Amino acid sequence: VRKGWAGVAALALGIALAGCGASSSAPSGASSTGGGTNNSSQVYVVGTDAAYAPFESVNPQTNQIEGFDIDLLNAVAKAAGFQVKFENTPWKGIFQALSIGQRDILISAITITDERKQSMDFSNPYFQAQQMIVVPPGSPIRTLQDLKGKKVGVQTGTTGDEIVTDFLGKTDPNIKRYDTTPLALEDLKNKGVDAVVADNGVVLDYIRQNSSKGFEHYTDPKFPKEYYGIAVKKGNTALLEKINDGLAKVKSDGTYDTIYKKYFGSAPPAE
Ligand code: ARG
Repeated sequence: VRKGWAGVAALALGIALAGCGASSSAPSGASSTGGGTNNSSQVYVVGTDAAYAPFESVNPQTNQIEGFDIDLLNAVAKAAGFQVKFENTPWKGIFQALSIGQRDILISAITITDERKQSMDFSNPYFQAQQMIVVPPGSPIRTLQDLKGKKVGVQTGTTGDEIVTDFLGKTDPNIKRYDTTPLALEDLKNKGVDAVVADNGVVLDYIRQNSSKGFEHYTDPKFPKEYYGIAVKKGNTALLEKINDGLAKVKSDGTYDTIYKKYFGSAPPAE
């Protein structure tokens, strides 16, 4: 079924659901980047792969990183009384940058997965997403099954990559992997691939911004619901608690809804 912009709004629950993530032992101190202190003057360094509008992208006019995730984390930090500074960080090395202490926090439309929970801790979920299949106009592809034997583009190491790889097999030569999702979508436009699988919010934003391309988009009932979380280094319970505290505040005082409306044009659907 072809979905309009309202489709993603309906899919995106936004408001926090069950408490995932906030569990760890072994506190490791707040950060290695702020002089090792844990006081309020510390500026936490935030990694984000800013090629993912409307969640994070570089504004070509100002060169600033902006988007839903940026506004949200700024609001969370303000509410919880800490400071943040965003650093554009390629997806390829983003989890590594967190684990070696180059980044204190990651916000990058990151889906909370069991595998990722082994190596980092996640905040409570802040956004619901789902994979989407994008195809050029007139393509017969509608479902995951239809991708068999077709060239499929994904961003390396994303949940879209995982789903396609699980289905087509690790060694399928038809999977084409890109450093960013916009590069995959550009290649779809250039007919380098037959379809792209990526997060719904980003796909819909891309189509909206580049409407002349007329891409069509579908979801497969097999695609699970995904929830975005804010990540900290495994064991950084102190920082995680601040983030969850800030998240709860911006959700209850209406700030979350305001930011949601700014980027998605409507209020987040009720829980
Ligand atoms: N939600 C997907 C994942 O976690 C894709 C996220 C990609 N984010 C980005 N800023 N490039 O795998």
